[in-house]
Amino acid sequence: MSYTDEGQTVLALETSCDESAAAVVRRVSGKFFLLSSCIASQVEEHSQWGGVVPEIASRRHLEAMPFLVHDALIQSQCKVEELDAIASTVAPGLAGALMVGSITGRTLAALHQLPFLGIHHLEGHLSSVFLDEFSPSPPYLVLLVSGGHTEIIYVEREMSFRKLGRSHDDAAGEAFDKVARLLGLSYPGGPAIEAKAKDGDPLRFQFPKGRISNPSGGFYPYDFSFSGLKTSVLRKVESFKNKNIPVPVEDISASFENAVAEVLVERSLNCAVDHDIKDLVMVGGVAANQRLRNLMRSKASKHRLPIQVHLAPKAFCTDNAAMIGAAALIRLESNISPSSLELGVSPRLSLTEADKLYRTPPPF
Ligand code: KG4
Ligand code: ZN
Repeated sequence: MSYTDEGQTVLALETSCDESAAAVVRRVSGKFFLLSSCIASQVEEHSQWGGVVPEIASRRHLEAMPFLVHDALIQSQCKVEELDAIASTVAPGLAGALMVGSITGRTLAALHQLPFLGIHHLEGHLSSVFLDEFSPSPPYLVLLVSGGHTEIIYVEREMSFRKLGRSHDDAAGEAFDKVARLLGLSYPGGPAIEAKAKDGDPLRFQFPKGRISNPSGGFYPYDFSFSGLKTSVLRKVESFKNKNIPVPVEDISASFENAVAEVLVERSLNCAVDHDIKDLVMVGGVAANQRLRNLMRSKASKHRLPIQVHLAPKAFCTDNAAMIGAAALIRLESNISPSSLELGVSPRLSLTEADKLYRTPPPF
């Protein structure tokens, strides 16, 4: 896998949850070029059930994948022979859904005698920031906020991760989804709450900023808890319903959104300052939230130490294959061995264990 002036090009596949996606990404002299990015969203179908139905997700991935691979290659104007590797998300996520991307990627790799790279989904989210024009170089801190994860991650060197903070219960995106459901809004909850919040008063209700006690005293400064916040919203909704007063959905949405944004921004900025880290990256589905983006930018610029904020482009915050391609290109250039064609999938593999995906024999 030698580095050439034309750079390296990968076809990347993403099927870990409810978006089927394929993309062709190229990296030349360290810079990333998105040649194509195709997404078939299943969100509408799952919204009828109020959340993702794993069996439906796997079936829809199976139906969509052949067309997505075809479209991604055609739109990129890239022939299979020009590819340097095939990459698929293999962990974490829904097992049946991950299998579809994995088997498609491994089959293409075997057929065309290309290296196969199994990619950790969160490594993909972390790499989404490189699809922006200005991206940071390590060391930097990442606030990763998605439907399944809320973590503060220290990236000391490329692809070397240390978790400094996490949610002890719901992920931030999960809190958006659950609060949306109890407000009678559609799935996914994030965009639905954001739309209602635009017409609401973010200061009308004070919702709690959940903290996690440290058994040896005080609180864990960079950890999160969103379950109390969700219960507090539920009580507020019930108090209106019990009095037969219409629920002020806009004000509750805005106040909830504001509480989540404040706690995420506060704790990640404190973590950056305490660890003397000058660059803070924000990625994941919830990072698409405009109130959160604005607050992060404004608080960072007024902080006691200046912190440079890097936000993943909005289009690449929610699940996509372009970010998986970016992660694969970084792995490719780091000269790791490709993944085994016998590599399976893992619904729960921690980001700090992502190196295991390039071991022979494979870990699963
Ligand atoms: O990263 P992602 O697409 O999938 C996971 O890896 O989990 O994140 C999906 C989550 C959902 O919980 C969704 O409600 C949330 O991101 N989300 C948002 C917004 N767009 C998506 N949350 C707040 N505001 C948004 N605009
Ligand atoms: Zn994701």
